[in-house]
This record gives sequence, structure tokens and C-alpha cells, in this order.
Amino acid sequence: MKADKLRKKYLEFFKIKSHAIIPSGSLVPENDPTVLFTTAGMHPLVPFLLGEKHPLGKRLANVQKCIRTGDIEEVGDDTHLTFFEMLGNWSLGDYFKKEVIKWSWEFLTSKKWLGLDKNKIAISCFKGDKNASKDVETAEIWKSLGVSEKRIAFLPKEDNWWGPAGNTGPCGPDTEMFYWVGDEQAPEKFDPEDERWVEIWNDVFMQYNKTKDGNYEELKQKNVDTGMGLERTAAILQGKKSVYETELFTPIIKKIEKLSKKKYGEKEKETRAIRIITDHLKAATFILSENVAPSNTEQGYVLRRLIRRSIRYGKILMMQNNFTKDISEIIIDMYPEYKELKKNKNFILKEIENEENRFRQTLASGLRYFNKIIENAKGKTISGKDAFLLYQSYGFPIEITWELAKEKNLKVDMKGYEKEFKKHQELSRTATEGKFKAGLADKSEETTKLHTATHLLLSALKKVLDKEDIMQKGSNITAERLRFDFNFDRKLTQEELKEIEDLVNEKIKESIEIKWEEIPLEEAKKRNITGSFKHKYGEKVKVYSIGNFSKEICGGPHVNNTKNLGHFKIKKEESVSAGVRRIKAVLE
Ligand code: ALA
Repeated sequence: MKADKLRKKYLEFFKIKSHAIIPSGSLVPENDPTVLFTTAGMHPLVPFLLGEKHPLGKRLANVQKCIRTGDIEEVGDDTHLTFFEMLGNWSLGDYFKKEVIKWSWEFLTSKKWLGLDKNKIAISCFKGDKNASKDVETAEIWKSLGVSEKRIAFLPKEDNWWGPAGNTGPCGPDTEMFYWVGDEQAPEKFDPEDERWVEIWNDVFMQYNKTKDGNYEELKQKNVDTGMGLERTAAILQGKKSVYETELFTPIIKKIEKLSKKKYGEKEKETRAIRIITDHLKAATFILSENVAPSNTEQGYVLRRLIRRSIRYGKILMMQNNFTKDISEIIIDMYPEYKELKKNKNFILKEIENEENRFRQTLASGLRYFNKIIENAKGKTISGKDAFLLYQSYGFPIEITWELAKEKNLKVDMKGYEKEFKKHQELSRTATEGKFKAGLADKSEETTKLHTATHLLLSALKKVLDKEDIMQKGSNITAERLRFDFNFDRKLTQEELKEIEDLVNEKIKESIEIKWEEIPLEEAKKRNITGSFKHKYGEKVKVYSIGNFSKEICGGPHVNNTKNLGHFKIKKEESVSAGVRRIKAVLE
């Protein structure tokens, strides 16, 4: 079964079970500072898992594009990826354990659906701890469907608990489904340590909210959040040992083989390099398709790191000439359903090639300098100063230096590096390895306030610049500031900025109540209501109004009254790309 058929079957199955099918959310989360990228299908649904009403009801399903960089070191093996697609279904306070487990079993094993061998399936359940009890109920449901007791393992929080996606948010115990991929007969007893049992699906019982102080509060509603890895499941259905042998990767691998004149599967080291390039450039292409350019902060830094890491692995394949653009082109053609790829093709190809040129200019001399450093590395540690120099003068992301050092059994003084970095006043939120794994700032009241301020800002821009068709081109909010991109073709004057600021502050002082209503998408279009969320939820949309001043299609959340916002101040106005400006602002 090809991956595309699997996507279609999954959605068809859950449609029959009364789920509304929603489109994939973006890879760069909107208005959520807790993570850099969407790491799971639940991520764009967080407000609804916390109790907000979803316009399309309580049962949802979709295919979500995801990026995870936490396991980047593992990429190159049979199953780990930084970009993948997740098939997911959700209950927002509707059905719970019994229904979802029954459906998971039906979808996996029924001949009408995937028809997988029941005798090759194993299950894990939550073992219990001080926050939540042992999930005997789930195990009993599996048993009632015919799963033998020996095939059920109870595991601790590290294995059988999912979320939150950042530091805080919805989470809960889960039950995971594994499939036997070994050549031998599947053993009677399930051993979770045996890698021939591959995890394919995860049903999470999302009933807690992890708070800032680390407590687990019971959520108002009991939710279900599931995720099935498209690439892994496709590999299993096709009897392939590795995800890279499915049609989701083979066209890219063929192109790398052609460009490098190396053969996939011949030498281990080269095969791993081909896999890493394949994965990383796919992730990079998708990130670029959302208008993120390589940079030294946030998403742009992850993107830079993926592209530069690919080029470094290209060296193992002796690829001396530019190759990223040719490969990216293949990837764009492989995913017609993600329209943003074709739409932004020029941007993607231009940016990836520019980044490759930038890195290649310094790569050879940087590697020479690295070799010099290791000759002198005292006490087997590369100093923070040297690591910073490699970053600043040769464009080596610190993670690349760290990896190169590891290959030579050396350490890097990461603390020293960070100190140097701070000294140069470029502190990036993502500059050190650890921050890739953990989430970032906390979602807090501050971000909600800034979100409401963003709506005021958009209306103020339209009024002051006298241009009704100004739209949001991007938005990112942290606990400290808002960042808002919009279409406009020149720099704003000091007077205009002041006027915009004053208008927003005037509206704050007016103490306007914020209201929302739910209306059909068609009506919202007819009424010409602004919204970057158009088409996102299909039939019905939520519209937030701030008096007569602002009306926007938006998922929320917002504050109740503008009087709670404080004083609005614009910190910066700059260009992002042709015809797009960016404002950074704070609430004081
Ligand atoms: N959110 C869950 C996961 O990613 C389903 O595994």
C-alpha cells in the first residue's frame, strides 16, 4: 500500500466514525512560543484540548506535517526522521479509551482497512506513578479485543506518557501499538527493548494540564489525541525494513546517487550520509515553504543547521559541487498536496542555494581550522573561544562543531561557548544543544495579551496607512514581545509609527470588551472579515471582535477587555522580504 493510499484510508475511516477532517496546520506554530515547530498533530489544537470550542465539533482527524529535532543524532537509522507526517484523530471531551482503542484495533487489523497480522502486534500501557495510577483499564480493553496478556507491557512515564509539547500544556498517559518487523516469527512475549518491535501508533489519554510549577491539573474535559507515523506505517505495509525504502524517499535517494555517483546500500557510512541528506533537505524544503529563511535565531537557525549539516555529510560522499537546490526541486514535486511548496518554489530554491554558497565559502578553511584546534586541544576539550570563532568566522553552527569533536572523542566547552556568545550580544534562543530538546518560553497571560494587541495593531495599520488590504503575513509571540509581518511596500515613517502606537493605546484606554461568535466560513467571507486562518477549519469559523475597531477570524485565546493590556510600544519596524514588513512591539 502506497503512502498516499494510507493517508486516504485513514481519513476515510475516521470520517465514517463521524470525525471532521481538518487540514494540516503550519509547521511554524502561530502565536505559540512554547515550541519552535509543530511536533505533533495535537499542537495546533492545544486551545481546544484545554476547553475552547472547536468550530467543527468534538471529533477531528487529519494528516499533519511535523518537525522534530530532538532525535537529530539518530537520523540515519531505519526509523528516525526530522520531518514526518502524522496521521491523527482527536476527541475533544467526547469519546475516550474504549472507543478509541477499539477503532485503532479495527483500523490496523481489519481486512477492509490495513489488514495487519494480529499476531504481530504488541501493546504498552502506563505503569503508574505519583501523578496518575496504573492504566489497568486500557490493558483490559486490549485483552477484550483478543490481545494476549504476554503482549502487553506496562512502562513508566518516560515511555508511556505524552506531552506537553512545550514545558506546559495538555498531556496524559498513553497506550502504544508496536508491530513485529523481524524475519523470525514474532515472539510470544513482548520485549519493549527489542528493536524489531516498531512503534506505529500512539493513543494518548489527554486529561491533564502540566502547569508552570510542574503540577498536573485535571483538565475540564477528557480528550483523546492519537498519532500514527505515516512513513513507518507505510514501510511496514510495504514489507520494507526502513522508511527510506518507500516511495516517500526513493526519488530523493536516486537523485543523490546520481549526483554523488555513490550507491545507496553499498557502504554503511555512505548510506547513512545519503539518508541524513535525504531527511534534512526534506525538512529544510518544508520549513522554507513557510517563508522562513536561514538565520541565526529560532526557526531560521534550525533551518540553517539542517542545510549545513547536509552539506557536511555531502563531503562524506565527495560531493564538491552545489546539490541542495537540485534535491529540493525533486522534493517539491513529490508533495503536490502541500501547495505551499509549489507556491514558494522560487523562494525555496533561491534561499537553499544562497545558504549553500555561504557555507561552502568558508567550509574548507573552517575544517582546516578545526583540525588545527584539535591538534592543540588541551585536556580533550575544545575551548568556548575556539567554538565561537568557528561559528562566527566560518559559519559552523555549534552543533556541527560538537559533532565533529565527538567523532574525534573530544568535548566542547559549551558553557564557555555560551559565554562568548553572550559577550557578543547575539544570544539566540536556540543556540545550544539543550534548547533543541526542551521547549522554549512558557505560554502565559503575557502571550494572550500580546495576541490581542496584535489584532489592535492590524486594524491600526489599516487605518493609519489607509490601506484596507493589509493582511497578516506571519505572527510570532513570545512572553516578551509580539512580532507581526504584513504586506506593505515601503518603510513606515516615524510619524506613522507614532500614530499607530497612539491609536492602539487609545483603544486600550477605551476599555473595550472582546467578544467572539461562531459563523459559517461563507458568511465570514461575505462580510469580508480579515483572517489568516481562512480555510483552516472548513465550515465554521470563530470571529473575535474588539468593538467596531477590529474583527478577525481567529482561534483565540484573547483577553476579555482591552483595559488589561497596559501600554503598547513599537520597538522595531523592518523589511522581511519584498513587499513584507515586520513590526516588533511590547506591552509595558
Ligand atoms: N501526540 C501524540 C504523539 O505525538 C499522539 O505521539
